[in-house]
Amino acid sequence: TEAELYFSYKGVYVPKLIHSPESFSFLENFPFRHDDILVVTYPKSGTTWSQEILPLIISDGDMTPVLTIPNWDRMPWLEEHRALKLNLEQRPSPRLFVTHCHYYMMPESFFKVKPKVIYIMRNPKDVFTSSYPFYAMASYMVNPGTKDEFLEKFLDGTVIFGSWFDHVKGWLGAKDQVNIMYISYEEMILDLRASITKISHFVGKSLTQEVTEKIADHCMFTNMKQNKMSNYSLVSSEILDQKKSEFLRKGVIGDWKNCLTEDQVARFDSVYKERMKDVNFKFIWDE
Ligand code: PPS
Repeated sequence: TEAELYFSYKGVYVPKLIHSPESFSFLENFPFRHDDILVVTYPKSGTTWSQEILPLIISDGDMTPVLTIPNWDRMPWLEEHRALKLNLEQRPSPRLFVTHCHYYMMPESFFKVKPKVIYIMRNPKDVFTSSYPFYAMASYMVNPGTKDEFLEKFLDGTVIFGSWFDHVKGWLGAKDQVNIMYISYEEMILDLRASITKISHFVGKSLTQEVTEKIADHCMFTNMKQNKMSNYSLVSSEILDQKKSEFLRKGVIGDWKNCLTEDQVARFDSVYKERMKDVNFKFIWDE
C-alpha cells in the first residue's frame, strides 16, 4: 500500500526505496551553478532518453561516458539517496542532472543561480500507458490494480510525484522566471536529429552534422535499448522485474490507443479538458 511503500514530500508521494527526507533536504540545500544543466520530467516522459542524449552532446559524441557509467550516476536525480554519495560538488562544469520535482519544490539556490533547465513533456495518455506496467514491475511502487483503478489515481495525482497536470502547469508557468526550454517526447520521436540540435544550441554546444547523426543513431530506441548502462539490466530483478515489463518498453507515440478503452479515453479527456482549460500552450498531441 501507499503507506508502506511511499512517504509524502510537499504534497506528493515518493517511493521510500529511492528517496528519504534526507535526500530532499540535500536538494533543498543544493548549491547550483549557473552552467548546470537540469532535465526536468514527470516520470515516464523521457528521463532515461535525456540521460543518454545530454552526456553525448557534452562529450561531443564520445561514447565513453554512456558506455561505462550507469545513467543514474552520469546524470543523477538530485532528489535521490544516491545523489548524496556522488560528490557532486567536485564534478566539473557543466554538471548534468535530472529531477522529477515540481517547480514549487525547487530550492532557493535554483532561483538565484538560474541553471539551464530542459523540460521534457509527453502526452499524458502515453505517460499513463508507460506507467501502468512500470508500477507493476517495480518492487518499490504500489501495485497499480486494475486499469480503471490506476486511471483514477493517475488523474487525481495519488501516484508518485503527484499529478501530471500540476507538474506540467507548474513548469510551464516558470517560463519567464528561469532559463528554461521546452521540448516534447513526441518531437524527439518525430525528429531526433533536430531535437538534438535544438538541445545542443540551448546548452551552448554546436555539433557537426556527423556528430549529431552519430548521437541520434545511438539514441534510437532499438540501439539504446542494447546499452547495459542505460537499460536498467544492472538492477536486480527483485527490484525491477523486466520479465514482467521492460524498462525500455516500446518507445513509441500513441500506444495509449492499445491500452485504453473508449470509456477510459472519454474519462481521460474530460479530466484533461477541465484541468488544462487555463493553459495557454500548444501541445503537439492536441494538434
Ligand atoms: S523514468 O522512470 O521516469 O525514468 O522513465 P522515463 O525514462 O522518463 O520514461 C520511460 C519511457 O521512455 C521510453 N524511452 C525511449 N523512447 C524512445 N527512444 C528512446 N531512446 C527511449 N528511451 C526510453 C521508455 O521506453 C518508456 O516509454 P514506454 O512507452 O513505456 O516504452
